Amino acid sequence: MAAHKVVCWECGAEVDDPFVNTCPKCGGLLTVKMDLSKVAEMKPEDLRKTPLGVWRYAPFLPVDLAHRVSIQEGGTPLYHVNDLGTAVGVKGSFVKFEGLNPTGSFKDRGMTVGVSRAKELGAKIVGCASTGNTSASLAAYSSKAGIKCAVFLPSGHVAMGKLAQALFFGAKVLSIDGNFDDALALARKMADERKLYLLNSINPYRPEGQKSVLFEIMDQLSYTVPDRIILPVGNAANIWAVYKACQELKEVGWIDKIPMLTGIQAEGAAPVAHAFAQHRIDFDPVPDPETIATAIRIGNPVSGKKALHAIYDTHGYAATVTDAEIIAAQQLLGRKEGLCVEPASAASVAGLKKLRADGIIDRDEKVVCICTGNGLKDPDTIIANSAKPIPCKNSVEDVERILAMD
Ligand code: F0G
Repeated sequence: MAAHKVVCWECGAEVDDPFVNTCPKCGGLLTVKMDLSKVAEMKPEDLRKTPLGVWRYAPFLPVDLAHRVSIQEGGTPLYHVNDLGTAVGVKGSFVKFEGLNPTGSFKDRGMTVGVSRAKELGAKIVGCASTGNTSASLAAYSSKAGIKCAVFLPSGHVAMGKLAQALFFGAKVLSIDGNFDDALALARKMADERKLYLLNSINPYRPEGQKSVLFEIMDQLSYTVPDRIILPVGNAANIWAVYKACQELKEVGWIDKIPMLTGIQAEGAAPVAHAFAQHRIDFDPVPDPETIATAIRIGNPVSGKKALHAIYDTHGYAATVTDAEIIAAQQLLGRKEGLCVEPASAASVAGLKKLRADGIIDRDEKVVCICTGNGLKDPDTIIANSAKPIPCKNSVEDVERILAMD
């Protein structure tokens, strides 16, 4: 474990109490400050003895390996998506497919570190609010750690696969009468009263694990820095985690430039993209967020301010896409590349397509889209937007008749 301290991202105060999630002095968001002096003496190759995955990057992580709770997260493929790239007009397009993590989303990267930290602290109950994936992941990792788990879900707005996972892993699934923002407010209240250890991304240890997606991308590209990385933005911690990872790699001298970080939000849930359009450093919450991409159906993103900082500081961009553009991108990934991603994940590719068409992205750029979750998480959306099964008699002739149809 690298030495580290938790500090307030806004006022810089050092925070010692591991059970607070905001600065006791100014109420600001917290972040982990890593001491990377030892890593600065290393080279990327020194880490290659460990398999590709979150824990290859242990020297960049703030938990002791002795408390590690792991289900072999990370190590996901980075595809050079030639056919999709040609279709959208950016030949150097790559997809980092996070749907191949143990519970089917990038959340496992944060949760392996977050639950390891919970174990280190001796937490008795862990909890989180979620649009689905965080709860599926926390339920799995708390199961593995033997810690009781409660998840706070917006009633009726969680995709079936994600709900099934949380139930399957034995979490107490609380169906909250309200949206994600309401569910998070309640979970935070429980944490403030010290009744559970909160593992939403406001907990500064969660983004530390999520940094690993950027470390892997750089490893997979042999440290040739892409021009741009595009991510879907919901509660806005992942884009911050990727930014922090870039800063740390630059600090240790493993990269010399930073990609333009580009956040994509669904049109009906886009506080960060709206703030960016107005050149603002903070955002106005959206009271009734709505989108088919339920994973990013969030109006008051906890890390929205950090996300805007990451975007401005890297000369990146933020934009919205419509639900129709999200579904079209999801289908393009399926038809051109054989990849099945969930709607929120397809937002990154929808953003690539839109920003290329608008001339924001150049045709010669090297762009990595992070596709954050597996399509099987949300089978209802896939079935609603696919052809229907064809009734077929038990005969060769009928099969031939059907195959001859367009
Ligand atoms: N993509 C997927 C598949 C997600 O599940 C989420 C967030 C995001 C993108 C956005 O990431 O919040 O870091 O900006 N899902 C959270 C959840 C909110 O509860 O599962 P973010």
